[in-house]
Amino acid sequence: MVKIIVANDYEEMSKKAAAIIAAQVIYKADSILGLATGSSPIGIYDYLTKWYQEGSLDFSQITTVNLDEYRGIEKKNDQSYDYFMHHHFFDRVNVRPEKTFLPNGMAADVEEECARYQKLIDDLGGIDLQLLGIGHNGHIGFNEPGESLEANVHCVSLSEKTIEANKRFFASAEDVPKQAYTMGMRSIMEAKKIVIVANGEGKAEAIAKAFAGKITTKVPASLLQLHPDVTVVVDQAAASLLPSYMQ
Ligand code: F6R
Repeated sequence: MVKIIVANDYEEMSKKAAAIIAAQVIYKADSILGLATGSSPIGIYDYLTKWYQEGSLDFSQITTVNLDEYRGIEKKNDQSYDYFMHHHFFDRVNVRPEKTFLPNGMAADVEEECARYQKLIDDLGGIDLQLLGIGHNGHIGFNEPGESLEANVHCVSLSEKTIEANKRFFASAEDVPKQAYTMGMRSIMEAKKIVIVANGEGKAEAIAKAFAGKITTKVPASLLQLHPDVTVVVDQAAASLLPSYMQ
């Protein structure tokens, strides 16, 4: 079942989504949280950090597994998702470093790394709450639109468009990672609860297609309509193309 929450703006979207995650952490102190990077969840991490600093949240028993990581860049590179997570969240709260997991972008063997990360997720016994952003094309994680979707952790080649879009963060286009590891659709769909956030006009079409359109691999997020517990938290701009009864 999909529940849609429309917030006034990014700030309120972040606060409402963070409140759902905070409730999960309070309700189950040893929750497994599936986490996302990107610009959408930054405000959420800020709220969770604030509530931790105020003494309202304790992450000491929490385990985190991230959706994705670029292949071929070091953790210490400020464009790695590992760096992002430390910068925006891990280093600011009391989550235990040995309980935070991301794919290893520098692994020598791709197949082995996919198998290792998949086993890690499966051995944790599944994800209690998965936080997601959504791409303009409806991707979740790096599960890109296509004729079919991968079930398990896999390594994807980034499209020219993505490489072009990411170029601004790197010294040159050659430095942009060409591949990334991502959780597949199975682990995402097996999460007990999913919270997906989006803000801004640019995401309106993706949100409308994903939650008010057909269920299709051409819009990977549309598969979330089949999940029993999904909360979509969007600002008004991102909600603007949803039919009025959903807003
Ligand atoms: C990030 C991820 C991606 C992003 C999506 C939206 O871990 O898995 O699917 O959530 O590309 O990115 P932003 O939030 O930067 O618009």
